[in-house]
Amino acid sequence: MRSKIVAGNWKMNKNLAETEALLTELSAKLPDTTAEVMVAPNFVNLVTAKQSLESSTIEVIAQNMHFAESGAYTGETSGDMLLDIGIDTVIIGHSERRAYFGETDEILEKKVKAALAKNMRVMFCFGEELTDRKSDNHFNVVGGQIKNALFSLDASAWSKIVLAYEPVWAIGTGETASAEQAQEMHAFIRKTITDGYDAAVANNVSILYGGSVKPANAAEIFSKPDVDGGLIGGAALVADDFAAIIKAI
Ligand code: PGA
Repeated sequence: MRSKIVAGNWKMNKNLAETEALLTELSAKLPDTTAEVMVAPNFVNLVTAKQSLESSTIEVIAQNMHFAESGAYTGETSGDMLLDIGIDTVIIGHSERRAYFGETDEILEKKVKAALAKNMRVMFCFGEELTDRKSDNHFNVVGGQIKNALFSLDASAWSKIVLAYEPVWAIGTGETASAEQAQEMHAFIRKTITDGYDAAVANNVSILYGGSVKPANAAEIFSKPDVDGGLIGGAALVADDFAAIIKAI
């Protein structure tokens, strides 16, 4: 179901005490909203985060998972392990996983399928690099990322997919896509899904924008018709900023 979503990707930030402190502050400052609000703390702090937010509407999600059920995969975490601690939404395909951990479209497709097989919700990230945009290849790259990892799914599986378009050149750089650039790409993404499936599937999927979303630019980006929310990195680490971004939606 298409819904408004604001998710905070904490990446490799915040120790245990800091996680508790940020969640306490965020809970206190959480504005009234009909949007879904999510946070993705580091793995070692997920259980504590779940406990801290027990009586909150804020959902705890994971930053990654492995595609295997279990076994000899040192350092990895399975879908069942996440479900066991009450986490049923997972980010897959973040550009940092692609760039630093060699996650290819093929690996990501396996991860998406593994999560969906467990009835988990997937927040699937993708986006072009600066060179792709400069060479006017950004639509091809984004279309390819979506098709390669997701187009083998049944139409019904898409009810469990959230998309997050994150141009790599805008992540953590302070440089953000303009609201027009975001809308243009989001409309392209929806058309790609319409062409591969149908309009119903395309219109039901939430498409988030990510990449240097801040309190100052959130409202304009979120005002675009095909932008259903944001995946927030740096600004999600500051309760006032994240609360302001939630308010903007
Ligand atoms: P940023 O990160 O908001 O710090 O640019 C976004 C993301 O990586 O999800």
